[in-house]
Amino acid sequence: MKISKNELDSYFQNGFLVQPGLFSPEETQKLVDCLDDFAATPQPGHVLEKDNITYRAFHGCHLYDDTYDALIRKPELLEPARQILKDEVYIHQLKVNLKQAFSGELWPWHQDYIYWRNEDKVPTNAIVSVMIFLDDITEFNGPLYFIPGSQTAGCIDSNKANDSPEGWEGNVSASLTYQVSEQQISSLVAKGGLFSATGKKGTAVWFDGNLVHASPPNISPFQRRIAILTYNAVSNAPLDAHIARRPDFLNGRDREPLTQLATAESL
Ligand code: SIN
Ligand code: MN
Repeated sequence: MKISKNELDSYFQNGFLVQPGLFSPEETQKLVDCLDDFAATPQPGHVLEKDNITYRAFHGCHLYDDTYDALIRKPELLEPARQILKDEVYIHQLKVNLKQAFSGELWPWHQDYIYWRNEDKVPTNAIVSVMIFLDDITEFNGPLYFIPGSQTAGCIDSNKANDSPEGWEGNVSASLTYQVSEQQISSLVAKGGLFSATGKKGTAVWFDGNLVHASPPNISPFQRRIAILTYNAVSNAPLDAHIARRPDFLNGRDREPLTQLATAESL
């Protein structure tokens, strides 16, 4: 279940690592099968697109669903997260981003750690995300774009976007609160180029909190659903646990080290 030394080296060099087929089609389908129920049962962490009709994201699914609670404890995910962070880990954030056929909107260029630093007071970037493809992702249905190596720029200061919604809603909308400027994107791409995160359903992609990324709208007739789990090192938990500003579905309150499912246990 551990990742190899070469894979770790590649993760630290590029800021991301792709693992095709980490989840079987059956296990991936179990994650997909939950989504109709989520859509039918409103939760505070469910977010709509700007049209106010289409679901954009379900946040904190592990807080109310057993399948997603089991997912965060899978050894396939916990072991690499511990290897990358060199510590025990807990879930800071989990979401399913839906990017629905024809209507899924974009995610502007940004880094993730600036949200965890500014909004949640996570002290350092000892934090890693892994996305699991719940659909086949191609160049057509709104894949994430990465700038390889851009995590070495650190946390890039950015001004708050003028058209972003107030409060936590701005942190998850198509008009994101903190965005990286076009000038900075041009210079980072001149150095690192671009990588498009495509692959079959069941693929996992690990990425650094400071990796600069974005994704275009989905104008295709194909859905593009991904689960994103963000593991934080236990030693890097936010300093103000008792006065957290953001809700628990964005800033996880259970900071005990996660215990893993037995290897043979499936979702
Ligand atoms: C993200 O940047 O966190 C998500 C982007 C996407 O779902 O395309
Ligand atoms: Mn992001």
